[in-house]
Amino acid sequence: MSALSLLRDNRGAMKTQDDGIHATNQDFIRYDQVEKRQTYHLAESESEDQFDDEFVIRTCDMRSPAFAHELGEALREIGFAILSNTGIDAALYDEAETKIAEMFTRLPMEEKLRYRAQRHGSVNQGYFPIKETSNMHPDLVEGWVFCRRAFEGGDFWPHNDDREFFREIVAAHEALILPVMQSLLQYLGCDPHLYDARLTGTNFGLRLNYYPPLSAEDDASGAARLLGHEDVDLFTFLPAPSTEGLQILNRKNMKWIRVAAPRGTIILNTGDYMQRISNDVFPSTTHRVSKPRDGSQRGSARVSFPMAVYVWEDEVLEVLPCVGPPKYPPVKAIEFHTSITSKFYGDDYAVKEGS
Ligand SMILES: [Fe+2]
Repeated sequence: MSALSLLRDNRGAMKTQDDGIHATNQDFIRYDQVEKRQTYHLAESESEDQFDDEFVIRTCDMRSPAFAHELGEALREIGFAILSNTGIDAALYDEAETKIAEMFTRLPMEEKLRYRAQRHGSVNQGYFPIKETSNMHPDLVEGWVFCRRAFEGGDFWPHNDDREFFREIVAAHEALILPVMQSLLQYLGCDPHLYDARLTGTNFGLRLNYYPPLSAEDDASGAARLLGHEDVDLFTFLPAPSTEGLQILNRKNMKWIRVAAPRGTIILNTGDYMQRISNDVFPSTTHRVSKPRDGSQRGSARVSFPMAVYVWEDEVLEVLPCVGPPKYPPVKAIEFHTSITSKFYGDDYAVKEGS
């Protein structure tokens, strides 16, 4: 058992990752920095989970004059929206899926482990072996995270061609950051440009996920492809994956919504930074990646590449001036971010103010 798979629970007892298959989010709630009343199991359960087949995630047309209103309504209701008419060519996303599958399958493990994830500022950047995305639960995924620093030098990429290709993806999504943030601020009744300076050249985490074909053993283990969680960021751009799996928790009825979005669209969700500054107007909604329902698809790999949008570590996350009396005090972004993510990476991941 690797060191990563050991953790201490709230009472100080040693637990293993396998306990994560039976754990709920409330076992780790002390790490959270925004209100999360919902209780759910980290892993999926074929016998216990209930599904909401009625709820439709709204599609918001970025070229519509009503975009700000529609996006605000969608996110306030469920924390997720589908962006259409983004101006990004769907073929770029197809190419990204192919490149990611190649990157994870062609590189020998020894080479991948040279890039093992380490904390850079707030972001745990680099390669995550299968079952080591977090120390809470043995996720059936390999991941590779790149923040802005990885595009500015240093030895973060096994191949420079990959860096240059993903630079294009990042640039395409960066062009959407201000339009989305301005729309949300407008919806809330704030100055739409309040975050323009902070989000120009801001930090992000591009995460490449490779979910290998499920072995019979992994399929039987009870582990999810990716545990139920909330994103820590302002918001996340997830180009619609071609393989089934994303599910989001509807807090109103505690049922899971299976999300399917058309090729070329982007699934957008709000995270903890946004819930905090919006004074809980925009929720940081729980989501996970489950195994495909169709057993024959379990023998195929799944690829996804969400991009999380952050503010830089020195910024202060403060409740916006237009959303009523603040429920939360101001907090430095690095402290906020790393205290939450220490639930995934261990207590010593947290950076305290002044240290
Ligand atoms: Fe996520």
